[in-house]
Amino acid sequence: MRLCGQPGNFGPYPDWASGKRLIRRAIELGVNFIDTAHAYGPGWNESLIGEVLADLSEEVVVATKGGVEKTAADKVFPDARPSQLRLRCEESLQRLRLERIPLYQLHRPDPNVPFAESVGALAQLRAEGKIRHVGLSNVSLAQIEEALQIVPIASVQNRFNLAEQADSDVLELCLARGIAYLPWGPLAAKPFSPEAPLSDDHRLAAIARAHSATEGQIALAWLLQHAPHIVLIPGTTSTVHLEENILAKTIILSTVESLSLGALFNNVKTR
Ligand SMILES: NC(=O)c1ccc[n+]([C@@H]2O[C@H](COP(=O)([O-])OP(=O)(O)OC[C@H]3O[C@@H](n4cnc5c(N)ncnc54)[C@H](OP(=O)(O)O)[C@@H]3O)[C@@H](O)[C@H]2O)c1
Repeated sequence: MRLCGQPGNFGPYPDWASGKRLIRRAIELGVNFIDTAHAYGPGWNESLIGEVLADLSEEVVVATKGGVEKTAADKVFPDARPSQLRLRCEESLQRLRLERIPLYQLHRPDPNVPFAESVGALAQLRAEGKIRHVGLSNVSLAQIEEALQIVPIASVQNRFNLAEQADSDVLELCLARGIAYLPWGPLAAKPFSPEAPLSDDHRLAAIARAHSATEGQIALAWLLQHAPHIVLIPGTTSTVHLEENILAKTIILSTVESLSLGALFNNVKTR
């Protein structure tokens, strides 16, 4: 998402060649899942990824999304009418240079369109072979249950991280239903902020020190160990951060560390 013009992830990433190098480096390091959306750019982020994929022999699963429009850095609004989802999906196929999109997610429910109609449009695109799996984003428990009546749901992408665990009930439902959970903002960055300020809690700092790791790496390691259906999509424009984030998978937190980290920010659960 952040490999776009700034502010607001609007326009093309200014250093196009270095953006491509960063994506290639991620794949070299073993990343095999990339999340994007029509709204990132809009379209520019998919074009950047499509250019990299065109020269690759490795298999990479690309997940994109439709249902949100962006007409300026600060003009973002849902449009998940079936006709619009079809249009955006067809554009994504072209930009990503794919015959079928591995995972296509409804970016967010559109209050002006019955939810079942938006999900039904994705079911239709799946039936036509334009998308392989259907995913949802920014959805509630009830919406997931409703969508499951229409089409198999492969993934849910909601905001969740060490410092923001309000979505725990959705995370648990996904585990029970065999649905992958993609926490967005895994480093707790605000969508339009350049920093990822996780916390200044000294206990998090102490656990990071004990593992010779950064607090961000601990946050990612905590998510990876939190549940088996979590797929991480940390966003970065920096090769140094990319390499640091990938190393998070080598950090093994003890059960005591995981539980105390989880409880640090999750006041509801510790009461
Ligand atoms: N479904 C949705 O509605 C939705 C909304 C937002 C995002 N997303 C998805 O979720 C992905 C991640 O979300 P996000 O980018 O908002 O949040 P994030 O992954 O929590 O944080 C990214 C921010 O943290 C910084 N960062 C990354 N690694 C770092 C490191 N090792 N040390 C210090 N800073 C670091 C990045 O800056 P640098 O560039 O300097 O590394 C960037 O500003 C996006 O790429 C997008 O695919 C989905």
